[in-house]
Amino acid sequence: MAIDMADEATILRGTEERDGPAESALLALLNGRHIVLVGLMGAGKTSVGKRLAQRLHLPFVDSDNAIEESANMTIPEIFKLRGEAEFRSGERRVIARLLGEPQQVIATGGGAYMDAETRLRIRERGIAVWLKAELPVLMRRVQRRHDRPLLANADPEATMRDLMAKRYPVYAEADLCILSDEQPHEAMVTRVIDALSAHLEPASDRPSRDRPA
Ligand code: S3P
Repeated sequence: MAIDMADEATILRGTEERDGPAESALLALLNGRHIVLVGLMGAGKTSVGKRLAQRLHLPFVDSDNAIEESANMTIPEIFKLRGEAEFRSGERRVIARLLGEPQQVIATGGGAYMDAETRLRIRERGIAVWLKAELPVLMRRVQRRHDRPLLANADPEATMRDLMAKRYPVYAEADLCILSDEQPHEAMVTRVIDALSAHLEPASDRPSRDRPA
């Protein structure tokens, strides 16, 4: 099959990124553990998670999608027809199942990490990474979609502020906290890889991106 030059360049770049020294070293350090992204709606868990998985050559799964698939309903439908409490127990079950699967990058829904059982399971089987963003960044991002039941009200910004106050002390239990700002997604991915590597191994042993492999 013919590959045009642009495709070839993308494939080569992808391979280089995936098999770079930092990526391979991180995979070894993770030793089969999942990378679990937590944080508020709009923090970038799905967009960063997808690209992080590509870079590490791991599968990616979004817990909200997995819940929708197993319930055969959208999240707004689940909230409307079954209520939030039932959504939360479904979320707990689905995340437990995902954590029992082979290593992957898991983006969780914003409320998932608030559940003590889920936090415990994540601690047992993965590394929790909190993507933390400033309120204006979160608000700008969540305005692009209208399928988040918790924000479907007259003052979503006040709701978000409220959620920040309630959830930040719990998100702070994650292994790592990484600033999610207006960086391009790929730069965010590099930031996550570097922070995870630094967290899992002493800095002196870490392969440098600037040093040839
Ligand atoms: C929620 C976040 C959503 C989704 C549901 C509830 C929350 O996921 O699980 O609407 O409680 O913060 P995202 O964080 O992926 O938007």
